[in-house]
Amino acid sequence: MTDEENIQFVAQAGGRLTGSIRVPGDKSISHRSIMFGALAEGTTKVSGFLNGEDNLATLNVFRSMGVTISDPVDGQLEIQGVGMHGLQAPTGALDVGNSGTSIRLLSGLLSGAISKQDFNIVLTGDSSLSKRPMKRVTDPLKLMGALVETNEAGTPPLNIHGGKRLKGIDYPMPMASAQVKSCLLLAGLYAKGITCVTEPAPTRDHTERMLRGFGYAVESNNGKICLQGGGKLTAADIDIPADISSATFFMVGATIADGSDVTLEHVGINPTRIGVINILCLMGASIEILNQHDVGGEPVADIRVKSAKLKGIQIPEDQVPLAIDEFPAIFIAASCATGETVLTGAEELRVKESDRIQAMADGLNVLGIQAVSTEDGIIIQGGEMGGGVVESQDDHRIAMSFAMAALVAKGPITINECANVATSFPSFLELANQAGLKISQV
Ligand code: S3P
Repeated sequence: MTDEENIQFVAQAGGRLTGSIRVPGDKSISHRSIMFGALAEGTTKVSGFLNGEDNLATLNVFRSMGVTISDPVDGQLEIQGVGMHGLQAPTGALDVGNSGTSIRLLSGLLSGAISKQDFNIVLTGDSSLSKRPMKRVTDPLKLMGALVETNEAGTPPLNIHGGKRLKGIDYPMPMASAQVKSCLLLAGLYAKGITCVTEPAPTRDHTERMLRGFGYAVESNNGKICLQGGGKLTAADIDIPADISSATFFMVGATIADGSDVTLEHVGINPTRIGVINILCLMGASIEILNQHDVGGEPVADIRVKSAKLKGIQIPEDQVPLAIDEFPAIFIAASCATGETVLTGAEELRVKESDRIQAMADGLNVLGIQAVSTEDGIIIQGGEMGGGVVESQDDHRIAMSFAMAALVAKGPITINECANVATSFPSFLELANQAGLKISQV
Protein backbone atom coordinates (compact mmCIF):
# COMPACT_ATOMS: atom_id res chain seq x y z
CA MET A 1 0.00 0.00 0.00
CA THR A 2 1.24 3.52 -0.72
CA ASP A 3 0.23 6.70 1.06
CA GLU A 4 -1.26 8.08 -2.20
CA GLU A 5 -3.82 5.39 -3.09
CA ASN A 6 -7.45 6.35 -2.50
CA ILE A 7 -9.38 3.19 -1.87
CA GLN A 8 -13.02 4.16 -1.35
CA PHE A 9 -15.67 2.13 0.43
CA VAL A 10 -19.30 2.61 -0.58
CA ALA A 11 -21.84 1.29 1.92
CA GLN A 12 -25.50 1.11 0.83
CA ALA A 13 -28.15 2.43 3.17
CA GLY A 14 -30.15 0.01 5.28
CA GLY A 15 -29.87 -3.65 6.21
CA ARG A 16 -29.37 -5.60 9.39
CA LEU A 17 -26.63 -7.84 10.78
CA THR A 18 -27.29 -11.51 11.48
CA GLY A 19 -25.44 -14.78 11.93
CA SER A 20 -22.25 -15.90 13.66
CA ILE A 21 -18.92 -14.42 12.74
CA ARG A 22 -15.36 -14.75 13.93
CA VAL A 23 -13.40 -11.57 13.42
CA PRO A 24 -9.58 -11.85 13.04
CA GLY A 25 -7.09 -12.19 15.87
CA ASP A 26 -6.26 -9.53 18.45
CA LYS A 27 -3.80 -6.98 17.11
CA SER A 28 -2.16 -6.15 20.46
CA ILE A 29 -1.62 -9.79 21.36
CA SER A 30 -0.39 -10.64 17.84
CA HIS A 31 2.35 -7.98 18.08
CA ARG A 32 3.47 -9.26 21.45
CA SER A 33 3.47 -12.91 20.32
CA ILE A 34 6.11 -12.09 17.69
CA MET A 35 8.21 -9.92 19.99
CA PHE A 36 8.28 -12.35 22.91
CA GLY A 37 8.60 -15.41 20.69
CA ALA A 38 11.63 -13.83 19.00
CA LEU A 39 13.42 -13.17 22.31
CA ALA A 40 12.50 -16.50 23.89
CA GLU A 41 14.56 -19.66 24.10
CA GLY A 42 12.88 -22.34 21.99
CA THR A 43 10.12 -22.43 19.38
CA THR A 44 6.89 -20.50 19.92
CA LYS A 45 3.81 -21.74 18.07
CA VAL A 46 1.13 -19.10 17.50
CA SER A 47 -2.45 -19.61 16.36
CA GLY A 48 -5.09 -16.95 15.70
CA PHE A 49 -2.41 -14.48 14.49
CA LEU A 50 -3.78 -11.35 12.82
CA ASN A 51 -2.41 -11.24 9.30
CA GLY A 52 -2.81 -7.46 9.08
CA GLU A 53 -0.24 -4.96 7.86
CA ASP A 54 0.64 -3.71 11.36
CA ASN A 55 1.47 -7.17 12.67
CA LEU A 56 3.32 -8.11 9.51
CA ALA A 57 5.44 -4.99 10.04
CA THR A 58 6.45 -6.31 13.46
CA LEU A 59 7.10 -9.75 11.99
CA ASN A 60 9.34 -8.28 9.27
CA VAL A 61 11.34 -6.24 11.79
CA PHE A 62 12.37 -9.44 13.56
CA ARG A 63 13.07 -11.27 10.31
CA SER A 64 15.36 -8.35 9.39
CA MET A 65 17.26 -9.01 12.62
CA GLY A 66 17.84 -12.66 11.86
CA VAL A 67 14.84 -14.33 13.51
CA THR A 68 13.32 -17.23 11.58
CA ILE A 69 9.53 -16.88 11.48
CA SER A 70 7.32 -18.97 9.22
CA ASP A 71 4.75 -17.28 6.97
CA PRO A 72 1.37 -17.07 8.71
CA VAL A 73 -1.03 -19.63 7.24
CA ASP A 74 -4.63 -19.51 8.51
CA GLY A 75 -3.36 -17.58 11.54
CA GLN A 76 -0.70 -20.16 12.44
CA LEU A 77 3.02 -19.49 12.52
CA GLU A 78 6.19 -20.55 14.29
CA ILE A 79 8.96 -18.40 15.68
CA GLN A 80 12.44 -19.78 16.32
CA GLY A 81 13.46 -17.72 19.34
CA VAL A 82 17.03 -16.35 19.40
CA GLY A 83 17.17 -15.58 23.13
CA MET A 84 17.38 -12.21 24.87
CA HIS A 85 20.66 -11.15 23.21
CA GLY A 86 20.48 -12.98 19.88
CA LEU A 87 19.17 -10.26 17.55
CA GLN A 88 21.48 -9.34 14.68
CA ALA A 89 22.16 -5.93 13.12
CA PRO A 90 19.65 -5.16 10.33
CA THR A 91 21.05 -3.96 7.02
CA GLY A 92 18.98 -0.77 6.85
CA ALA A 93 16.21 1.22 8.52
CA LEU A 94 13.22 -0.81 9.71
CA ASP A 95 9.84 0.42 8.43
CA VAL A 96 6.85 -0.28 10.70
CA GLY A 97 4.31 1.42 8.43
CA ASN A 98 1.24 2.71 10.29
CA SER A 99 1.89 0.82 13.52
CA GLY A 100 2.17 2.87 16.71
CA THR A 101 2.31 -0.27 18.83
CA SER A 102 5.29 -1.58 16.87
CA ILE A 103 7.36 1.58 17.10
CA ARG A 104 6.62 2.30 20.76
CA LEU A 105 7.14 -1.24 22.07
CA LEU A 106 10.19 -1.78 19.87
CA SER A 107 11.84 1.43 21.10
CA GLY A 108 12.07 -0.12 24.57
CA LEU A 109 12.66 -3.70 23.52
CA LEU A 110 15.46 -2.83 21.10
CA SER A 111 17.12 -0.33 23.46
CA GLY A 112 17.55 -3.28 25.79
CA ALA A 113 18.26 -5.97 23.21
CA ILE A 114 21.20 -4.01 21.71
CA SER A 115 22.42 -2.59 25.03
CA LYS A 116 25.46 -4.87 24.78
CA GLN A 117 25.96 -4.46 21.02
CA ASP A 118 27.65 -1.71 19.08
CA PHE A 119 25.17 -0.96 16.29
CA ASN A 120 22.22 1.44 15.98
CA ILE A 121 18.73 0.70 14.72
CA VAL A 122 16.51 3.19 12.87
CA LEU A 123 12.72 2.76 12.99
CA THR A 124 10.58 4.61 10.44
CA GLY A 125 6.91 4.63 9.47
CA ASP A 126 4.31 6.04 7.11
CA SER A 127 3.11 9.66 6.99
CA SER A 128 0.53 9.15 9.76
CA LEU A 129 3.01 7.46 12.12
CA SER A 130 5.59 10.14 11.35
CA LYS A 131 3.32 12.71 13.01
CA ARG A 132 2.74 10.77 16.24
CA PRO A 133 4.36 11.72 19.56
CA MET A 134 7.35 9.61 20.64
CA LYS A 135 8.71 11.68 23.55
CA ARG A 136 6.35 9.74 25.78
CA VAL A 137 8.67 6.75 25.28
CA THR A 138 12.02 8.38 24.58
CA ASP A 139 11.95 10.58 27.72
CA PRO A 140 11.53 7.73 30.23
CA LEU A 141 13.90 5.51 28.20
CA LYS A 142 16.50 8.25 28.61
CA LEU A 143 16.00 8.06 32.39
CA MET A 144 16.85 4.35 32.07
CA GLY A 145 20.11 5.21 30.30
CA ALA A 146 18.96 4.53 26.75
CA LEU A 147 19.58 6.87 23.84
CA VAL A 148 16.71 7.03 21.38
CA GLU A 149 16.69 10.07 19.14
CA THR A 150 13.60 11.50 17.48
CA ASN A 151 13.49 14.36 15.02
CA GLU A 152 12.98 17.89 16.39
CA ALA A 153 9.22 17.60 16.67
CA GLY A 154 9.58 14.51 18.88
CA THR A 155 8.31 12.27 16.08
CA PRO A 156 9.78 9.34 14.07
CA PRO A 157 12.15 8.23 12.70
CA LEU A 158 13.69 6.85 15.89
CA ASN A 159 17.42 6.24 16.08
CA ILE A 160 18.10 3.67 18.79
CA HIS A 161 21.72 3.57 19.94
CA GLY A 162 23.34 0.29 20.88
CA GLY A 163 25.77 -0.16 23.75
CA LYS A 164 23.83 1.91 26.28
CA ARG A 165 23.52 -0.10 29.49
CA LEU A 166 20.10 0.31 31.12
CA LYS A 167 19.11 0.70 34.75
CA GLY A 168 15.67 0.19 36.30
CA ILE A 169 13.48 3.19 37.09
CA ASP A 170 10.32 3.81 39.09
CA TYR A 171 8.16 5.70 36.62
CA PRO A 172 4.83 7.40 37.28
CA MET A 173 3.32 7.39 33.80
CA PRO A 174 1.76 10.78 32.97
CA MET A 175 -0.89 9.31 30.65
CA ALA A 176 -2.79 6.00 30.66
CA SER A 177 -0.92 4.24 27.85
CA ALA A 178 -0.35 0.52 27.45
CA GLN A 179 2.22 1.26 24.77
CA VAL A 180 4.36 3.38 27.10
CA LYS A 181 3.96 0.88 29.95
CA SER A 182 4.91 -2.01 27.67
CA CYS A 183 7.87 -0.14 26.19
CA LEU A 184 9.35 0.44 29.63
CA LEU A 185 8.69 -3.09 30.88
CA LEU A 186 10.38 -4.51 27.78
CA ALA A 187 13.39 -2.25 28.31
CA GLY A 188 13.24 -3.30 31.97
CA LEU A 189 13.87 -6.93 30.97
CA TYR A 190 17.43 -5.81 30.16
CA ALA A 191 17.90 -3.23 32.93
CA LYS A 192 19.98 -3.55 36.05
CA GLY A 193 17.64 -3.80 39.01
CA ILE A 194 13.90 -3.33 39.13
CA THR A 195 11.75 -1.36 36.68
CA CYS A 196 8.35 -0.16 37.90
CA VAL A 197 5.64 1.69 35.99
CA THR A 198 2.65 3.21 37.80
CA GLU A 199 -0.38 3.82 35.61
CA PRO A 200 -2.85 6.64 36.34
CA ALA A 201 -5.68 4.29 35.27
CA PRO A 202 -5.71 0.61 34.23
CA THR A 203 -4.68 -0.03 30.62
CA ARG A 204 -4.57 -3.25 28.61
CA ASP A 205 -2.35 -5.77 30.39
CA HIS A 206 -1.44 -8.18 27.57
CA THR A 207 2.27 -7.52 28.09
CA GLU A 208 2.14 -8.51 31.74
CA ARG A 209 0.03 -11.60 31.02
CA MET A 210 2.20 -12.79 28.16
CA LEU A 211 5.46 -12.19 30.03
CA ARG A 212 4.15 -14.44 32.80
CA GLY A 213 3.12 -16.99 30.15
CA PHE A 214 6.76 -16.99 28.98
CA GLY A 215 7.90 -17.66 32.54
CA TYR A 216 8.92 -14.11 33.50
CA ALA A 217 7.83 -12.84 36.93
CA VAL A 218 5.85 -9.58 36.81
CA GLU A 219 4.24 -8.04 39.87
CA SER A 220 1.11 -5.90 39.59
CA ASN A 221 -0.20 -4.11 42.64
CA ASN A 222 -2.64 -1.19 42.74
CA GLY A 223 -1.63 0.09 39.34
CA LYS A 224 2.11 -0.37 39.92
CA ILE A 225 3.73 -2.95 37.64
CA CYS A 226 7.28 -4.12 38.40
CA LEU A 227 9.79 -6.58 37.06
CA GLN A 228 13.43 -7.42 37.72
CA GLY A 229 15.85 -7.20 34.80
CA GLY A 230 18.21 -9.93 33.69
CA GLY A 231 15.85 -12.89 33.32
CA LYS A 232 14.96 -14.93 30.27
CA LEU A 233 11.87 -15.87 28.31
CA THR A 234 10.94 -19.48 27.64
CA ALA A 235 8.97 -20.27 24.46
CA ALA A 236 5.27 -20.95 24.94
CA ASP A 237 2.34 -21.70 22.64
CA ILE A 238 -0.05 -18.79 22.13
CA ASP A 239 -3.70 -19.04 21.07
CA ILE A 240 -4.82 -15.53 20.14
CA PRO A 241 -8.52 -14.71 20.60
CA ALA A 242 -10.56 -12.61 18.13
CA ASP A 243 -9.99 -8.88 18.54
CA ILE A 244 -12.69 -7.09 20.56
CA SER A 245 -11.71 -3.89 18.74
CA SER A 246 -12.69 -5.49 15.41
CA ALA A 247 -15.78 -7.12 16.96
CA THR A 248 -16.86 -3.63 18.07
CA PHE A 249 -17.94 -2.58 14.56
CA PHE A 250 -20.36 -5.50 14.46
CA MET A 251 -21.54 -4.90 18.04
CA VAL A 252 -22.41 -1.31 17.15
CA GLY A 253 -23.87 -2.25 13.75
CA ALA A 254 -26.12 -4.92 15.27
CA THR A 255 -27.22 -2.58 18.05
CA ILE A 256 -28.29 0.27 15.77
CA ALA A 257 -29.80 -1.74 12.86
CA ASP A 258 -33.35 -2.96 13.60
CA GLY A 259 -33.87 -6.71 13.45
CA SER A 260 -30.20 -7.59 13.97
CA ASP A 261 -28.97 -10.58 15.95
CA VAL A 262 -25.26 -11.33 15.67
CA THR A 263 -22.94 -13.63 17.60
CA LEU A 264 -19.24 -12.77 17.62
CA GLU A 265 -17.26 -15.90 18.33
CA HIS A 266 -14.24 -16.45 20.54
CA VAL A 267 -13.65 -12.77 21.35
CA GLY A 268 -11.04 -11.70 23.92
CA ILE A 269 -12.86 -10.12 26.87
CA ASN A 270 -9.86 -9.16 28.99
CA PRO A 271 -11.26 -6.77 31.67
CA THR A 272 -8.86 -4.06 30.44
CA ARG A 273 -10.50 -4.17 26.98
CA ILE A 274 -14.25 -4.34 27.64
CA GLY A 275 -15.02 -0.63 28.04
CA VAL A 276 -17.03 -0.79 24.82
CA ILE A 277 -19.35 -3.45 26.26
CA ASN A 278 -19.76 -1.48 29.49
CA ILE A 279 -20.50 1.77 27.64
CA LEU A 280 -22.94 0.23 25.14
CA CYS A 281 -24.77 -1.51 27.99
CA LEU A 282 -25.06 1.79 29.88
CA MET A 283 -26.67 3.19 26.72
CA GLY A 284 -29.20 0.34 26.68
CA ALA A 285 -27.62 -2.19 24.31
CA SER A 286 -28.59 -5.86 24.37
CA ILE A 287 -25.31 -7.76 24.81
CA GLU A 288 -24.97 -11.29 26.16
CA ILE A 289 -21.67 -12.87 27.12
CA LEU A 290 -21.82 -16.60 26.42
CA ASN A 291 -19.51 -19.58 26.78
CA GLN A 292 -16.89 -17.70 28.80
CA HIS A 293 -13.60 -19.53 29.30
CA ASP A 294 -9.86 -18.92 29.55
CA VAL A 295 -7.46 -19.43 26.64
CA GLY A 296 -3.75 -19.18 27.40
CA GLY A 297 -4.18 -16.67 30.22
CA GLU A 298 -6.73 -14.47 28.42
CA PRO A 299 -10.51 -14.63 29.02
CA VAL A 300 -12.56 -15.38 25.89
CA ALA A 301 -16.32 -15.55 25.14
CA ASP A 302 -18.97 -15.46 22.42
CA ILE A 303 -20.79 -12.14 22.37
CA ARG A 304 -24.43 -12.06 21.20
CA VAL A 305 -25.76 -8.64 20.25
CA LYS A 306 -29.35 -7.81 19.30
CA SER A 307 -30.68 -4.48 18.13
CA ALA A 308 -31.82 -2.12 20.87
CA LYS A 309 -32.97 1.44 21.44
CA LEU A 310 -30.12 3.49 22.86
CA LYS A 311 -30.12 6.54 25.07
CA GLY A 312 -27.42 9.21 25.31
CA ILE A 313 -25.16 9.13 28.37
CA GLN A 314 -22.26 10.87 30.04
CA ILE A 315 -19.50 8.32 29.41
CA PRO A 316 -17.75 7.48 32.70
CA GLU A 317 -14.12 8.61 32.49
CA ASP A 318 -12.86 5.41 34.09
CA GLN A 319 -14.03 3.56 30.95
CA VAL A 320 -11.96 5.71 28.59
CA PRO A 321 -8.67 3.73 28.65
CA LEU A 322 -10.68 0.48 28.56
CA ALA A 323 -12.41 1.52 25.31
CA ILE A 324 -9.69 3.71 23.83
CA ASP A 325 -9.75 2.19 20.34
CA GLU A 326 -13.52 1.77 20.23
CA PHE A 327 -14.65 5.41 20.41
CA PRO A 328 -15.12 6.01 16.68
CA ALA A 329 -17.69 3.18 16.66
CA ILE A 330 -19.18 4.28 20.00
CA PHE A 331 -19.74 7.75 18.45
CA ILE A 332 -21.84 6.10 15.73
CA ALA A 333 -23.92 4.41 18.46
CA ALA A 334 -24.26 7.79 20.21
CA SER A 335 -25.51 9.36 16.96
CA CYS A 336 -28.34 6.81 16.90
CA ALA A 337 -29.28 7.26 20.58
CA THR A 338 -32.04 9.42 21.96
CA GLY A 339 -30.56 12.53 23.57
CA GLU A 340 -27.04 13.71 24.20
CA THR A 341 -23.85 11.71 24.72
CA VAL A 342 -20.89 13.47 26.32
CA LEU A 343 -17.32 12.19 26.35
CA THR A 344 -14.62 13.85 28.46
CA GLY A 345 -11.11 12.84 29.55
CA ALA A 346 -10.27 11.39 26.14
CA GLU A 347 -7.58 13.77 24.83
CA GLU A 348 -5.50 10.70 23.88
CA LEU A 349 -7.91 10.20 20.97
CA ARG A 350 -6.35 13.23 19.31
CA VAL A 351 -2.99 11.43 18.86
CA LYS A 352 -4.12 8.10 17.42
CA GLU A 353 -3.79 7.08 13.76
CA SER A 354 -5.73 10.33 13.17
CA ASP A 355 -7.20 12.98 15.46
CA ARG A 356 -10.17 10.71 16.11
CA ILE A 357 -12.26 13.36 17.84
CA GLN A 358 -12.04 15.78 14.91
CA ALA A 359 -12.25 13.12 12.22
CA MET A 360 -15.47 11.73 13.70
CA ALA A 361 -17.02 15.14 14.43
CA ASP A 362 -16.35 16.26 10.84
CA GLY A 363 -17.76 13.07 9.31
CA LEU A 364 -20.83 13.04 11.55
CA ASN A 365 -21.54 16.67 10.64
CA VAL A 366 -21.41 15.76 6.95
CA LEU A 367 -24.02 13.06 7.66
CA GLY A 368 -26.29 15.55 9.43
CA ILE A 369 -25.52 14.63 13.03
CA GLN A 370 -24.77 17.40 15.52
CA ALA A 371 -21.37 16.58 16.97
CA VAL A 372 -19.15 19.18 18.59
CA SER A 373 -15.55 18.40 19.45
CA THR A 374 -14.12 19.61 22.75
CA GLU A 375 -10.49 19.64 23.85
CA ASP A 376 -10.75 16.23 25.50
CA GLY A 377 -13.86 14.71 23.99
CA ILE A 378 -17.05 15.25 22.05
CA ILE A 379 -20.75 16.10 22.52
CA ILE A 380 -23.10 14.23 20.21
CA GLN A 381 -26.86 14.78 19.82
CA GLY A 382 -28.61 11.65 18.60
CA GLY A 383 -30.43 12.29 15.33
CA GLU A 384 -31.20 11.09 11.85
CA MET A 385 -28.20 9.84 9.91
CA GLY A 386 -28.05 10.99 6.30
CA GLY A 387 -25.89 9.68 3.47
CA GLY A 388 -22.83 11.46 2.06
CA VAL A 389 -19.11 11.38 1.47
CA VAL A 390 -16.87 11.28 4.55
CA GLU A 391 -13.10 11.28 5.07
CA SER A 392 -11.48 8.48 7.06
CA GLN A 393 -8.32 10.58 7.43
CA ASP A 394 -6.41 7.40 6.54
CA ASP A 395 -7.58 5.86 9.78
CA HIS A 396 -8.83 2.26 9.69
CA ARG A 397 -11.18 2.60 12.65
CA ILE A 398 -12.80 5.80 11.34
CA ALA A 399 -13.42 4.04 8.01
CA MET A 400 -15.03 0.94 9.53
CA SER A 401 -17.16 3.00 11.94
CA PHE A 402 -18.69 5.09 9.14
CA ALA A 403 -19.29 1.89 7.16
CA MET A 404 -21.54 0.63 9.96
CA ALA A 405 -23.38 3.97 10.09
CA ALA A 406 -24.81 3.17 6.64
CA LEU A 407 -27.05 0.51 8.25
CA VAL A 408 -29.26 3.33 9.58
CA ALA A 409 -28.47 6.08 7.06
CA LYS A 410 -31.02 7.58 4.66
CA GLY A 411 -28.62 7.25 1.72
CA PRO A 412 -25.34 5.53 0.83
CA ILE A 413 -22.16 6.51 2.65
CA THR A 414 -18.93 6.83 0.68
CA ILE A 415 -15.72 6.73 2.72
CA ASN A 416 -12.44 8.03 1.34
CA GLU A 417 -8.93 6.67 2.01
CA CYS A 418 -9.77 3.19 3.28
CA ALA A 419 -6.51 1.39 2.41
CA ASN A 420 -5.49 1.34 6.07
CA VAL A 421 -8.36 -0.96 6.97
CA ALA A 422 -5.83 -3.64 5.99
CA THR A 423 -3.65 -2.67 8.95
CA SER A 424 -6.04 -4.26 11.44
CA PHE A 425 -8.90 -5.97 9.61
CA PRO A 426 -8.04 -7.18 6.08
CA SER A 427 -11.23 -9.28 5.80
CA PHE A 428 -13.58 -6.49 6.89
CA LEU A 429 -15.48 -6.12 3.61
CA GLU A 430 -16.02 -9.86 3.29
CA LEU A 431 -17.25 -10.34 6.87
CA ALA A 432 -19.38 -7.18 6.82
CA ASN A 433 -21.13 -8.33 3.62
CA GLN A 434 -21.56 -11.81 5.06
CA ALA A 435 -23.27 -10.33 8.13
CA GLY A 436 -25.62 -8.14 6.06
CA LEU A 437 -23.99 -4.76 5.34
CA LYS A 438 -23.94 -4.02 1.62
CA ILE A 439 -20.50 -2.57 1.15
CA SER A 440 -18.02 -2.58 -1.71
CA GLN A 441 -14.65 -1.15 -2.58
CA VAL A 442 -14.30 1.29 -5.47
C1 S3P B 1 -2.10 -0.62 22.30
C2 S3P B 1 -2.32 0.40 23.20
C3 S3P B 1 -3.20 1.55 22.94
C4 S3P B 1 -4.10 1.31 21.74
C5 S3P B 1 -3.35 0.70 20.58
C6 S3P B 1 -2.77 -0.63 20.98
C7 S3P B 1 -1.21 -1.73 22.67
O1 S3P B 1 -2.41 2.69 22.66
O2 S3P B 1 -4.71 2.53 21.33
O3 S3P B 1 -4.22 0.51 19.48
O4 S3P B 1 -1.21 -2.77 21.97
O5 S3P B 1 -0.49 -1.61 23.67
P1 S3P B 1 -1.93 3.73 23.82
O6 S3P B 1 -0.95 3.06 24.67
O7 S3P B 1 -1.32 4.87 23.03
O8 S3P B 1 -3.19 4.13 24.51
